[in-house]
Amino acid sequence: MSAPMSSTNPFLNFPYGSIQMECDAHDLIVEGEVPQELSGTLYRAGPNQRFAPRGDYHLFAGDGMVHAFHIQDGKVDYNNRWVRTAKWNIEDKEGRAVVNAMNPFDCEPEYSDFVLTDKEGLANTATVWHGGRMLVMEEGHRPYEIDPVTLESIGSWDFRGKLQTAMTAHPKIDPQTGEMIMFAYMATGPFSADVMVHKVNAEGILTESIHVPTPYSAMVHDFVVTENYIVIPIMPITGSLERAMEGGPPFAWEADKGVHIGILPRNGGTAEDIRWIEMDLCFVFHFMNGFDVDDVITIDGCQFNAPPLFATPDGKITGKKQPFLTRWTIDLKDDNARGTFEQIDQHEGEFPQCDPRYMGKPYRHGWYASCDGELSSPLWENESYYNVVGHFDHETRKDDRFSCGQAMTSEPIFVPTAGGAEGEGYLMSVVTSFETRTSSLYIFNALQVAEGPVAKVHLSHRVPAGFHGSWRPAA
Ligand SMILES: [Fe+2]
Repeated sequence: MSAPMSSTNPFLNFPYGSIQMECDAHDLIVEGEVPQELSGTLYRAGPNQRFAPRGDYHLFAGDGMVHAFHIQDGKVDYNNRWVRTAKWNIEDKEGRAVVNAMNPFDCEPEYSDFVLTDKEGLANTATVWHGGRMLVMEEGHRPYEIDPVTLESIGSWDFRGKLQTAMTAHPKIDPQTGEMIMFAYMATGPFSADVMVHKVNAEGILTESIHVPTPYSAMVHDFVVTENYIVIPIMPITGSLERAMEGGPPFAWEADKGVHIGILPRNGGTAEDIRWIEMDLCFVFHFMNGFDVDDVITIDGCQFNAPPLFATPDGKITGKKQPFLTRWTIDLKDDNARGTFEQIDQHEGEFPQCDPRYMGKPYRHGWYASCDGELSSPLWENESYYNVVGHFDHETRKDDRFSCGQAMTSEPIFVPTAGGAEGEGYLMSVVTSFETRTSSLYIFNALQVAEGPVAKVHLSHRVPAGFHGSWRPAA
């Protein structure tokens, strides 16, 4: 008999709490019209804790579940499955949580070395379709392959033995060549001060791994790839085994270590070629896009003054923190270059997207999740859940926004129309109503978000608030 989940941990309760079922639902109820030209699958990944957790629990520590909306001929089918990681299988057999994903030193004795040796992780953060494989990622471990239609677990994927590190949850795919560029932080051991950059060709073969020592051991969640550079942002969420052994936080915000942006030439660059550019203190989890023109690199990201969810080494959380779309500029022609930044949007925004056909190139349109302050969150004082889907036009610097009211929006995913100009296509967000406590897929015209969704596709259950998604076009 499974034990009840904590009723006080917000991440185990609505809208984050897990659903305890897997299902296949056919021909979902649609309000409005699903565009006929939209053909493919939208995936969402997120934590969905299987059993009452052992010890502390945080959203980052939940067992991964993938949700898929399969869209064709104006109809939508849905299915969801847990990813059968090694942890999931062990706990499924035991009928309870035996591993504490938050603390490797707190596992049942029989599994005492599990967290330290596990290669499969939680598969709870993001998905990507590349090289004919559907991968579910969690940045501390290898990706996990699932069947793109049935969502059945296939197994941990190490690119035929060539991936010797973890893999970021935010790989970048070159729109022309199909090459996927990705990285791992703390690449050569626990809390090592380095990253490993990997290149995977369009066929899914890992062709190159570049080891780059970094100024200090840092958690690096996302990065940027432009036409000529791979940009590795080292911002001071530091990792320290020593600190963890002394009972402190393994990861902490150490502002005085500063921001160091690593610029690696994309073609043929090695650790000797990397240039480190300093910049004023800031933190970005997610970048919208970046590009280089005449050796000036421009990068847009949702920037915090300091990161949420991370304390200083002595355990202090430093006040209210909201991200705003911010543009970085790095002029490589200047030998003494220092990065600069400018906030370019007045609204809070996170989970940014660009038109994937413009990844790494000069671009105009971006999208993100935002809030209007009408759906307050009990997690942090005076903060709100995201209940807005936003489009940002870099040319006019204007927003085009739609509020879903008393409903939480997921990261919106942009799907281009075949042959269309930049930004022409659809934007999809999984929206969870606080009234019905069920989720619906909202489909917007991506350049007319304020007009509201052209279709709402209703589930009779909830997709727990999760992290990232992706689109796989129909073959
Ligand atoms: Fe992320």
